[in-house]
Amino acid sequence: MPTPLLEARGLTKRFGALTALSGVDLDVNAGEVLALLGDNGAGKSTFIKVLAGAHAPTEGTLTIGGTPVAFASPQDAANVGIATIFQELALSENLSIAENVFLGREIVRRVAGVPFLRRREMKDVVGRLLDELDAHISDPDAPVGSLSGGQRQAVAICRALYLDARLVIMDEPTAALAVAETRKVLDLTRRLADRGCAVLLISHNIADVFEVSDRMAVFRRGRKVAERRRDATDPEEIVSLITGAHPDVRALDKQQ
Ligand SMILES: Nc1ncnc2c1ncn2[C@@H]1O[C@H](COP(=O)(O)OP(=O)(O)OP(=O)(O)O)[C@@H](O)[C@H]1O
Ligand SMILES: [Mg+2]
Repeated sequence: MPTPLLEARGLTKRFGALTALSGVDLDVNAGEVLALLGDNGAGKSTFIKVLAGAHAPTEGTLTIGGTPVAFASPQDAANVGIATIFQELALSENLSIAENVFLGREIVRRVAGVPFLRRREMKDVVGRLLDELDAHISDPDAPVGSLSGGQRQAVAICRALYLDARLVIMDEPTAALAVAETRKVLDLTRRLADRGCAVLLISHNIADVFEVSDRMAVFRRGRKVAERRRDATDPEEIVSLITGAHPDVRALDKQQ
């Protein structure tokens, strides 16, 4: 087995007296979509915020490609190739698609020390990425404000690709999308993994998860209570793991 891209060990996060995350061990491999499931308040967002450098863990360790990492900021996580696409996408409505993809990392040419943006080059790069994603967006110069929810997700994914992310984390990417757009985003998610990215997908939609993920991890009350390969489980079992009706989870609940 190759080294997992990401190894979380004993991750714990306490907010004062509240333990939001408790001793979570989890691996994410390159080329796979790992779905994170669990009830409201189970600790999913807290977990990804630790991976994204937004929260420092109270206890526990993270390694990326076998190297221990400790993030002081989201920028630290981005620097080792972790891209997080939050549900409320941080895109600028009035900027173009290409400008959004490059925001903060523009290609600049300096003439006598004066920086000039290389617009044509950025537009070409974005056009190629959108093609590669099969995103059906014809004009990288169009303002993001003119795009649908699904197309915006495509732009956010494109940005993750441009940053050359090794791990892409998506928090409920299809929650607000219509059927056709959900299709597109699920396809893009799969494509990211097929390109060699590790993808961590948070979703409450069991059908989506079964369609796109290779593995599933279920969180409950801050703990990871189960991990399953998609081909070794079914929606009924996953639902019972989430709700706590599953015998394994009932046994764990009793121990607490
Ligand atoms: N910044 C914070 N300060 C205090 N408590 C927090 C903070 N963030 C999360 N929590 C608490 O930690 C627990 C886990 O929350 P988290 O947001 O990780 O859940 P979740 O699994 O993402 O739920 P949902 O599916 O509703 O998004 C909850 O009890 C929540 O109230
Ligand atoms: Mg959440």
